[in-house]
Amino acid sequence: MHERILIVDFGSQYTQLIARRIREHQVFSQVVPAHRAGEYLGGDLKGIILSGGPASAYAEGAPTMSEEVLNARVPILGICYGMQWLCEHLGGAVVAGEHREFGFTEMSLDNREGLFRGVAAETVVWMSHGDRVEKLPAGFDRLAHTADCPEAAIGDEARKVYGLQFHPEVAHTREGVTVLRNFLHEICGCVGDWTPGDLAQELVRGVAGQVGHSGEIVLGLSGGVDSSVVGAICQQAIGRRCHAIFVDTGLLRSGERELVESTFRDHFELDLTVVDAADRFLGNLAGVTDPEAKRKVIGYEFVEIFREQAKRFENANFLGQGTLYPDVIESVAAHGGATEVIKSHHNVGGLPEDLEMDLVEPLRLLFKDEVRELGRVLGLPEEMVARQPFPGPGLAVRCVGECAPDRIERLREADAIVREEFERHGEHEGVWQYFAVLTGARSVGVMGDQRTYEEACAIRAVQSSDGMTADWVYPSHACLQAISNRVINKIRGINRVVLDVTSKPPGTIEWE
Ligand code: XMP
Repeated sequence: MHERILIVDFGSQYTQLIARRIREHQVFSQVVPAHRAGEYLGGDLKGIILSGGPASAYAEGAPTMSEEVLNARVPILGICYGMQWLCEHLGGAVVAGEHREFGFTEMSLDNREGLFRGVAAETVVWMSHGDRVEKLPAGFDRLAHTADCPEAAIGDEARKVYGLQFHPEVAHTREGVTVLRNFLHEICGCVGDWTPGDLAQELVRGVAGQVGHSGEIVLGLSGGVDSSVVGAICQQAIGRRCHAIFVDTGLLRSGERELVESTFRDHFELDLTVVDAADRFLGNLAGVTDPEAKRKVIGYEFVEIFREQAKRFENANFLGQGTLYPDVIESVAAHGGATEVIKSHHNVGGLPEDLEMDLVEPLRLLFKDEVRELGRVLGLPEEMVARQPFPGPGLAVRCVGECAPDRIERLREADAIVREEFERHGEHEGVWQYFAVLTGARSVGVMGDQRTYEEACAIRAVQSSDGMTADWVYPSHACLQAISNRVINKIRGINRVVLDVTSKPPGTIEWE
């Protein structure tokens, strides 16, 4: 048994980020919906964190939870709505604030012990609230304030109940990590007994439990780190009842297929089938230029192939996928609300209702760097674990306009050059993705005294921690020059190379 922190979800978009921060401190946590929180008390529970949420704590019908949580005799930390819920239920009062606070905010500490030990007297926190605490419950003291929020942090040291109006889980809060560490280690007394190895074993057990003794999984293996880690988990969970399907869509990077085959056939002994489907994908993409339409064609074709493959096995009622938490957030309304769909990530948005297979998605609540760590724990080669992310629809979303076979081939060659030069110049370290885009824009050039009228290739390189936001990267002159020379000299059909200097937002990482 591991020490445990309960995270009560009041509907914040950052709830999974809280869970992730706790994992970073090697503490096990469980996220539970607020109305069921009372069922998870007792045992090795060390503390409770109440998440933020979009509602007002004083509003009729606002999300709530059983008050027995308050009597659980473990420390409690309420964040944003969670703090306001505590105030409402412990005899304080919450009102609509005169000033709303969003984004970076200067905060001054009134107490630098306990929760705030080691935090600077003046610090920067990330706020996102309209309501504020007007009256503190009995026994509570102010721990910090901002210009517009007198109660930015509060605490009842005797009962070990705390409230933060700001979000310590968000990276923009400069000393959020220290505050959460203090809560976990100093206040709850956690020692940190939950390792990535434990997480891997939990996921393996989870898959084994979901699939049962006779179920079989058809797993879409893309060659990217996510589905590869799912492959390793499923293989450990159910051995050769996991049937990995690697689809050669004709939209892969150069060397992709060979790497996947050698890793999984030779080292993991996974039951692996490689389906040659380039003609199918490129055939169906002929004449399709709209980005969402392309994604739909590709998503549909993947599902058809997985369905066909599933028929080869008696009990293949499960479809395994490497879906991560950021994919879920961007593709579907995270909490059933009206979050805008930015792109239909092929593994989340595009599944038909009549799929008749249950999804196995052990990474659904994790972030990319956590998945890489898991891959290492599960014994995947570094070459695979450290790979830059590659989207399910492959080169199609980097080939603006029609995915004609000759254009895809051009892009594949350019992409290989970009990757090689970044790596040769040591400029790939710490870069999230670096690749080529075929822009569809044509321009006039001159080569060997001859006029050319060919396509422009863009270099796209970004830094990011989870793919949800990103900053563009400025490669060195030498690296850019090597790419430009090689691409223009070697690849017929490209006569110009440009650098994409757009962050996300307002851009996205892929062009489509
Ligand atoms: P965007 O372009 O949305 O990309 O800023 C964010 C991250 O997600 C990857 N990406 C995908 N991954 N299926 C995937 O598995 C997809 O359909 C997909 N679309 C984008 C992209 O490479 C980047 O890392």
